Amino acid sequence: KHNGGSYIDPVKLVGKDLLNLTKNIEVLLGSGHPVLNTVSNYYFASEGKRIRPLIVLLMSQATSIAPKKCDAVHADFFQIMDQPLSSKALNKNISSFPTSDVDSTFYSPSLSPEGVIILPTQRRLAEITEMIHTASLLHDDVIDVSESRRNLPSANANYGNKMAILAGDFLLARASVALARLRNPEVIELLATVIANLVEGEFMQLQNIQENGTMSTFDYYMEKTYMKTASLIAKSCRAASVLGGATAEVCDIAYAYGRDLGLAFQLTDDMLDFIVTANDFGKPVGADLKLGLATAPVLYAWEEHPELGPLINRKFSQKGDVEKARELVYQSGGIEKTRILAASHCQRAIETISQLPESDARNALIQLTQKVLTRKK
Ligand code: FPP
Ligand code: FPP
Ligand code: MG
Ligand code: MG
Repeated sequence: KHNGGSYIDPVKLVGKDLLNLTKNIEVLLGSGHPVLNTVSNYYFASEGKRIRPLIVLLMSQATSIAPKKCDAVHADFFQIMDQPLSSKALNKNISSFPTSDVDSTFYSPSLSPEGVIILPTQRRLAEITEMIHTASLLHDDVIDVSESRRNLPSANANYGNKMAILAGDFLLARASVALARLRNPEVIELLATVIANLVEGEFMQLQNIQENGTMSTFDYYMEKTYMKTASLIAKSCRAASVLGGATAEVCDIAYAYGRDLGLAFQLTDDMLDFIVTANDFGKPVGADLKLGLATAPVLYAWEEHPELGPLINRKFSQKGDVEKARELVYQSGGIEKTRILAASHCQRAIETISQLPESDARNALIQLTQKVLTRKK
């Protein structure tokens, strides 16, 4: 009833927009420094799943035929958006930009077969979302001392920590300029909050267990998961609908969908860390325990095996802790319970998005949500 029957290839719906993503980001990242260009573009050259921009583009289409409070198409915004972001250009008076630099066909609204539309601002949002995600990966691989990403050496492994961190900062900075160019304060606030949430989530993870707080350890873990993973996709989904001029109700649907989807993704990731091989995953597995992290499978196992408590508290730092914890997780229902929790978030995401009017884009979002639970990487 929900998915409209046959499989819809999302790439058919938004493939063209997605194809230009990397090229457009490269333009946004252009700087006067060749090494900075190389390091900040490094993760865009490898094959990420580009799942966030895909979702932002599909959400843009899906909400474009939903109720609107205003018409969002403002041709003058599209011009401002495409002006150069390089420091040299920005140090000049903004109003003196030569508009001749702008390739106006580059960013014209794209019409799908159904007549639903993706606005240039929404396409730019998809790029900004991927840039923020990539910045967080650059920083994350330094924090996690990770040597590989997407089956290749990590940026820090190749260029060192200093350059990896600075490249991440640069990505955030350019994403912020591009965001300001969308001239939408609500969208700026949403994405700026995402950046804060990513840092908050990472801090919650460093702490692992809440100090003198009232939240249960599991609630704290879910809050952390929202901050580090779900916030970006949830607020990006909301921003896409805001840019499209959708009603408050539609914006809430977009947000709630992204939130449940993001939570389901991270729960699945935390589960896969216990069950797949590094080669399938494209990054180190069994990493979480070694990093001292107690994720859902461990927290569930703890309910069955109280002896896990001290190990969690000392972040698996004593000899044999990691192996013992892993063993107890396998003996417990922790992995299965995590799968069930992820499934319930997927189910709720599907119920939420099903409130939007029927369209290929909406059905593609539903099908994508159904696939979260069966992914292996
Ligand atoms: C890196 O992102 C991994 C994580 C942030 C943890 C788990 C999250 C996901 C697997 C995807 C989350 C998706 C949504 C819609 C919130 P990644 O696996 O997307 O990395 P990639 O850019 O290399 O594909
Ligand atoms: C991947 O998680 C990382 C994140 C989801 C976010 C990391 C956030 C920061 C490092 C905060 C600073 C970021 C910015 C943008 C200022 P993971 O380590 O669980 O996944 P992995 O296995 O893909 O490395
Ligand atoms: Mg990591
Ligand atoms: Mg990490």
